[in-house]
Amino acid sequence: MKLLAVLFFLAASAASATGEENGARLFAPCRACHSLDAAERGLPGPNLAGLIGRKIAGDAAFDYSPVLRKAREEGLHWDAQRLNRFLADPAEMFPGLWMSMRGIEEPAERAALLRFLADPASR
Ligand code: HEC
Repeated sequence: MKLLAVLFFLAASAASATGEENGARLFAPCRACHSLDAAERGLPGPNLAGLIGRKIAGDAAFDYSPVLRKAREEGLHWDAQRLNRFLADPAEMFPGLWMSMRGIEEPAERAALLRFLADPASR
């Protein structure tokens, strides 16, 4: 897990260095842990198919951290605004999150990633 986190950190730094605003490219480092294909299982992170509009911690097959389970119990859903805040600084939004991801500082990059998460087939 630690090694994955380090690899991800490197990949994320490389992506922001190019200023790339293509959602599919921005999702590439996330692919190490997440799939947008509901049928793909067994990755280290929860499946993210249909994420926007879905309950927080909504992959029934995934064992989430207490902080995300609590958000689910509170009835919270992922909408674009909440996801945008999460991507900017995941640990600030959910202290104790089991995902070590550096936030994406650039608003245009977050917007591109959001568009891709909402509709992966369009890119
Ligand atoms: C090293 C593995 C890893 C990488 C890389 C990673 N994640 Fe995660 N992600 C996780 C884990 C593990 C969780 C569950 C965290 C928890 O339970 O606290 C998670 C949770 C999430 C959630 C909440 C899902 C839900 O069902 O509510 C979202 C959204 C998310 N990640 C998006 C991303 C995006 C976007 C990227 C790339 C920019 C990314 N992640 C990169 C491991 C990763």
